[in-house]
Amino acid sequence: MLEEVKKLWDKYKLSEDVRKHCMKVAEVALKIANSIESDVGIDKNAVLIGALLHDIGRAVTNDPFLHFIKSAEILRKEGFDDKIVKIAERHFSAGLSKEDAKKLGLPIKNYMPKSLEEKIVSFADNLVFGDKEGKFEDFMKRLDEIDKRNGKFKWLTEKTRKRALKIKEELEKLSGLKF
Ligand SMILES: [Fe+2]
Repeated sequence: MLEEVKKLWDKYKLSEDVRKHCMKVAEVALKIANSIESDVGIDKNAVLIGALLHDIGRAVTNDPFLHFIKSAEILRKEGFDDKIVKIAERHFSAGLSKEDAKKLGLPIKNYMPKSLEEKIVSFADNLVFGDKEGKFEDFMKRLDEIDKRNGKFKWLTEKTRKRALKIKEELEKLSGLKF
């Protein structure tokens, strides 16, 4: 299965930095998944593959608002399970609603993480800065920095704070971990 990941990384010439980032996200995501009671029924393989491939779209664009759509496009084209495709498609920050997508000029669609696998990978991604694991408050600080740099995304960062906090609370409750 991991060979499949490596093959795709190579095929799309994904940069070393992004590969390292994805490996760290996979490590954090699996730590969360492994801390959740098995009767919850998390598909750990989907978490692993989804985390390793969530940023494959970065091979073709570095645009933060487009790369997750590209990731999903590539994975769909390559015949990946819809479960994996959606992990990539819904990993941006703490998600984007249909309305947000419209406002951003993106294909109008719901990009909110819904399944636990989707939430775990998107949340783990928010905790990883480059290839280092940080704390939840570091993610919140980054949102503040975005607002300081440019006030035009305030409408979105405000929603993101609430959405991220909700996912954090849900995953802390399920896993017993503290982020
Ligand atoms: Fe990403």
